[in-house]
Amino acid sequence: MASVSGDSIDITLIVNGAEHALRVGRRATLLQVLRHDLHLNGPKYGCGLGQCGACTVHVDGVAARACVIPAAKVQGRAITTLEGLGDRARPHPVQSAFIAAQAAQCGYCLNGMIMSAAALLAHEPRSSAQAVRDALAGNLCRCGTHLEILAAVERATRALADTARTPGEPP
Ligand code: FES
Ligand code: FES
Repeated sequence: MASVSGDSIDITLIVNGAEHALRVGRRATLLQVLRHDLHLNGPKYGCGLGQCGACTVHVDGVAARACVIPAAKVQGRAITTLEGLGDRARPHPVQSAFIAAQAAQCGYCLNGMIMSAAALLAHEPRSSAQAVRDALAGNLCRCGTHLEILAAVERATRALADTARTPGEPP
């Protein structure tokens, strides 16, 4: 339950497995709190309107646009940012695939691409190429790197499918 005082509000968020008690602006979005209060800069500010996907995080395992989610509305939910997905020592398979495929130009869209792909593959590791395209359709890349990005996600899909395949099962 949030406690309100003037223009501020006291909230508790669970981010990347850790609980944070925070005093934030009453109208603060989840993206503002993640970036400014928790210094998690994986999620990016792009359009601020829920239209580009740069700010994508996971809320209870589902890809969500942090720029349009009031922070107070996601108390008690499991929020995961790019930082919680993996790190240099133990990257998530989608992160590894993007590195291997060098699927970036400026990189600004990559948080959203990776978080959206990771959410899809967590639910369906053997996603079809069309399912990947559908899942990423709302993530914009101003550099036009879509083909390389799709190739990276396909690489991650193959890696996850190989992990999930039982011995002797055909590819
Ligand atoms: S910054 Fe959130 S969708 Fe564009
Ligand atoms: S790599 Fe620049 S916006 Fe996608």
